[in-house]
Amino acid sequence: MNIKVLQEDVTKVSTPALIVNIFEGVKSPAGATGAVDQALGGAITQLIDEGEIRGKAGEMTLIHTFGRIGAGRVLVAGLGKQKNFSANTVRNVMGDACRFLRSRNISSACTIAHGAGIGGLQPQSVAQAMAEGSILGLYRFKHYFSSNGDDAELADLTVVEQEEAKVAELQKGLRLGTITAEASCLARDMANEPANVMTPTQMSEVARRVADAEGLEIEILDREDMEEKGMGALVGVARGSHQPPKLIVLKYRGNPDNPADNLGIIGKGITFDTGGISIKPAAGMERMKGDMSGGASVIGAMQAIGRIRPRVNVTGIVPATENMPGGDAQRPGDIVQTMNGKTVEVINTDAEGRLVLCDAMAYARELGVNRMVDIATLTGAIVVSLGKICTGVMGNDQEFIDQLINASEDTGERFWQLPMFDEYRDTLESTFADMMNVGADRGAGSITAAKFLSEFAEGIPWAHLDIAGTAGSTAEKGFLVKGATGVPVRTLVNLALAGES
Ligand code: BES
Ligand code: MN
Ligand code: ZN
Repeated sequence: MNIKVLQEDVTKVSTPALIVNIFEGVKSPAGATGAVDQALGGAITQLIDEGEIRGKAGEMTLIHTFGRIGAGRVLVAGLGKQKNFSANTVRNVMGDACRFLRSRNISSACTIAHGAGIGGLQPQSVAQAMAEGSILGLYRFKHYFSSNGDDAELADLTVVEQEEAKVAELQKGLRLGTITAEASCLARDMANEPANVMTPTQMSEVARRVADAEGLEIEILDREDMEEKGMGALVGVARGSHQPPKLIVLKYRGNPDNPADNLGIIGKGITFDTGGISIKPAAGMERMKGDMSGGASVIGAMQAIGRIRPRVNVTGIVPATENMPGGDAQRPGDIVQTMNGKTVEVINTDAEGRLVLCDAMAYARELGVNRMVDIATLTGAIVVSLGKICTGVMGNDQEFIDQLINASEDTGERFWQLPMFDEYRDTLESTFADMMNVGADRGAGSITAAKFLSEFAEGIPWAHLDIAGTAGSTAEKGFLVKGATGVPVRTLVNLALAGES
């Protein structure tokens, strides 16, 4: 999608469709919407009076102008209540509005900058949210359909702004939003691909393309390298599959004078999770192609960071493998030794995410990261606790956790923290090894999983994001469409930017 800014009077601009907005309960529109209303002889006011336009969030009303102004149609988008207004409202409105226009076969549109006036937002954040909402809301994954029908694309969007002083800021925001949304779409693409295509090898190929395009350093470890480094837990998971495992490392060095500054982002890359010998039930197992969503979000975030080029060092790590029940698969009761020397009794081979992540975290420490976040579709339990609405956050350092939650603010990627009391660790005690890979009792499965991982943070600030509920969407709403969401790419990018020195 091509998005730009045009300095012009909205009533003069010539376009097939112009998007304006209205808050819930407003009787006579002001600002740019007001100017359009006047130019249309009060048509919007009249529809408000008649009760057709109410301004509710997600409401879309299309008015045909038949030549009365430069725009062929005016789309009045409801913003909802003004007290709930935020950048995320803008993002969702643009997603809904763009899909609405596309469904009417409109390939080019203009829009006002929502909320840069009375909404009280900075023009740059408005523009960023507009670009994100449009690109994410229009996202489709349809290259496996053998005929593509007569679907049009909404290919051009122009933000129309009268005030010259705002233009540069709007342009900056559009650029940033395009970068973050395209990165989220890369993550969505990877997670939507079926597991027969998005293998560990294929993930490493995507990472290589990103590294080449953005000038990142890349290192890919294969099975022998992992064995040499003592990554027994990661290798143990990979044993059941014919697909060769890959440990992907992407390095962005925006602050080379200060190598001690090094943010690690580590994403679970299980390209298909059958459960292994502790095999999963058949119903819904196809969804486990998305078990590499955390890894995809890391590759997406590294692409965005490589394009924005902030003054910070970031290391992205993705342990990628299938979890299959092949003849050489690990068994329940097997004991593996991880890279940091700790031994694990594998009680349940379906708790494989923590096994691949713990070696990746130990490797991150070896690579010198001084703080790290892991991102994983780790537990079904998080879907029970938080549903598909927010990502579970756990960690060992409240300041770092707060930084991460702040980075998610207003992105529409919602986070909620769970406790990490010492007592949750007791349930991992093993009779035969340093710990078991699952808790002895079934309660608090997301927390005991995080407790397992915390053993590999070794004294540096670490946070864990359980995205099992938020990595996929079953609804088409605002900036979300059905399938992979790309969560939490935009938060990871914000976290990296917040670490700039
Ligand atoms: N990949 C799954 C978790 C998951 C579940 C992701 C639902 C997305 C949707 C993970 O590897 C897993 O199987 N976890 C087990 C852990 C259990 C064996 C302790 C689970 O949650 O059942
Ligand atoms: Mn599993
Ligand atoms: Zn899994």
